[in-house]
Amino acid sequence: MDIAIVGSGLIGQAWAIVFARAGYGVRLWDIDAQARDRAVQLIGRQAHALQAQQLVDDVDALVARVTVCTELAQALQGVAYVQENLPERVDLKQKIFRQMDALADANTILASSSSGIPASAFTETLPGRRRCLVAHPVNPPYLIPVVELCGAPWTDPAVLDAARQIQSTAGQKPVLVHRELEGFVLNRLQGALLREAFRLVQDGTITVEDLDTTVKDGLGLRWSFMGPFETIDLNAPAGVADYCARYGGMYASIARSQTDSTEWSADVIDNVERQRRGQLAESELLRRRLWRDQRLMSLLRHKQQMNAEDAAAQPND
Ligand code: NAI
Repeated sequence: MDIAIVGSGLIGQAWAIVFARAGYGVRLWDIDAQARDRAVQLIGRQAHALQAQQLVDDVDALVARVTVCTELAQALQGVAYVQENLPERVDLKQKIFRQMDALADANTILASSSSGIPASAFTETLPGRRRCLVAHPVNPPYLIPVVELCGAPWTDPAVLDAARQIQSTAGQKPVLVHRELEGFVLNRLQGALLREAFRLVQDGTITVEDLDTTVKDGLGLRWSFMGPFETIDLNAPAGVADYCARYGGMYASIARSQTDSTEWSADVIDNVERQRRGQLAESELLRRRLWRDQRLMSLLRHKQQMNAEDAAAQPND
């Protein structure tokens, strides 16, 4: 079964690795010939980095599964699923979805990587709107598996189900967002944390460095293998309801002091920028991103090993 990648920038390349790594044939198309060439080189480079961390078995086989197409129609012909990755602009998404809906087979699923534009904003007038959805990844999806699936009101539930199957087979962790809303779920959670983090730095409660430590050496340690609900379920003797009985009042009181919804001020952004540049010079950002990706690869490998051990320890029915 083949997958088409439409738009081969940062996210398109990463999706190509996800699907080719899982054994799918990948057809890659971008309007810009240079972007297509660049994508092939970067896919090869990233695949080697993954192989060094035992996250890819055979780089040559992975790269061989990726075919570059010079025409959109060629990329779409006979594929089961399309992942669109054009820039985050509603006019571009509307135009490409109109083209894809006209060119693709009737049963081909059309998914967008859109970070914030809901599918209803670019599929409403399409004859094939029932087969369109958003599949929002986290960068880079070959290291961070969660993908948010969110249909428009007219998306066929069977299409969402099939998209979920394909993403699971590709090794991703699809989650279903049951209605369209700004930022879907992941960025709403990230936004809630960032809002409080900026506020606490702005009012002088904590430094940027100590706030980051509170997450990476505190909350975040658990978050790499359990979410907030499982966390609180384990943090009171009788589980989640017990936790809410003990601490619900405190959280309600905190929430009453968190009602502002203003944008981050120039002052607080300057303050955070100054503190961050004191810890890391701008010229070091790229090196640090590569370091982050190495850390993510090690963590992913560790999680895979732990999950395999958990699965082996499950009693047989
Ligand atoms: P990018 O700018 O790296 O890539 C966009 C690609 O689209 C370029 O290669 C460009 O040549 C191509 N393109 C532009 N117009 C086109 C057209 N008319 N037809 C065909 N190709 C065209 O952007 P990036 O970061 O890959 O983002 C793509 C999508 O993924 C956006 O919707 C973005 O919101 C979403 N996304 C991005 C994440 C990120 O961290 N960068 C994370 C999650 C989603």
